[in-house]
Amino acid sequence: MKIFIDSADIKEIREANQLGVIDGVTTNPSLVAKTGRKFEEVLADICAEIDGPISAEVVSTEAKEMIAEGRRLSALHPNIVVKCPMTFDGLKATRALSEEGIRVNVTLIFQPSQALLAAKAGAAYVSPFVGRLDDVSEDGMGLISTLVEIFGNYDYDTEILVASVRSPTHFVESARMGADVATCPFSVIQTLLRHPLTDIGLAKFLADWKSVPK
Ligand code: G3P
Repeated sequence: MKIFIDSADIKEIREANQLGVIDGVTTNPSLVAKTGRKFEEVLADICAEIDGPISAEVVSTEAKEMIAEGRRLSALHPNIVVKCPMTFDGLKATRALSEEGIRVNVTLIFQPSQALLAAKAGAAYVSPFVGRLDDVSEDGMGLISTLVEIFGNYDYDTEILVASVRSPTHFVESARMGADVATCPFSVIQTLLRHPLTDIGLAKFLADWKSVPK
């Protein structure tokens, strides 16, 4: 399973990238707003740091404008993947952009029918939001399981990109189910590599080492 970092913060993207496990980046308007920086500058920094797919979301809501915005974003760097929301116009834009060879990530997916339509419209990625489904007492990982089953029935090239990942459980279950990508905030990436017994074990090894004759 590929690991993307869900962030627009270049400092944490650089830090995470030192682990050597980051395959790509997803951003969204909320994450970009948190940086207080211009979108194009954020994207330029990310593209210089990570050699992999970098999702950049359109903020237009009508297909014609989404397509124009998508073309502009895509022209910034070959690794840019245009993110379109799962709306009627978003699907129209997805079809048009993908026919031009521009990869599209369809975002804000909450049910299987949305993902299937996005795949049929030519999406390179679909982004189901598992954490936000859990937030409203629905089964986020159940959606991933259903999508893996449906996509396994057909030959779409569309990848299942698990988004709104909030915990190591979301991450590990995504891998068990065979999702293509999990995009994780830096805080979640940090929790993936920790275990209390690792810390306790290391502290004991280092303490015992002190009694070894030097
Ligand atoms: O980038 C989209 C998604 O990962 C957002 O996650 O935690 O805001 O639901 P969250």
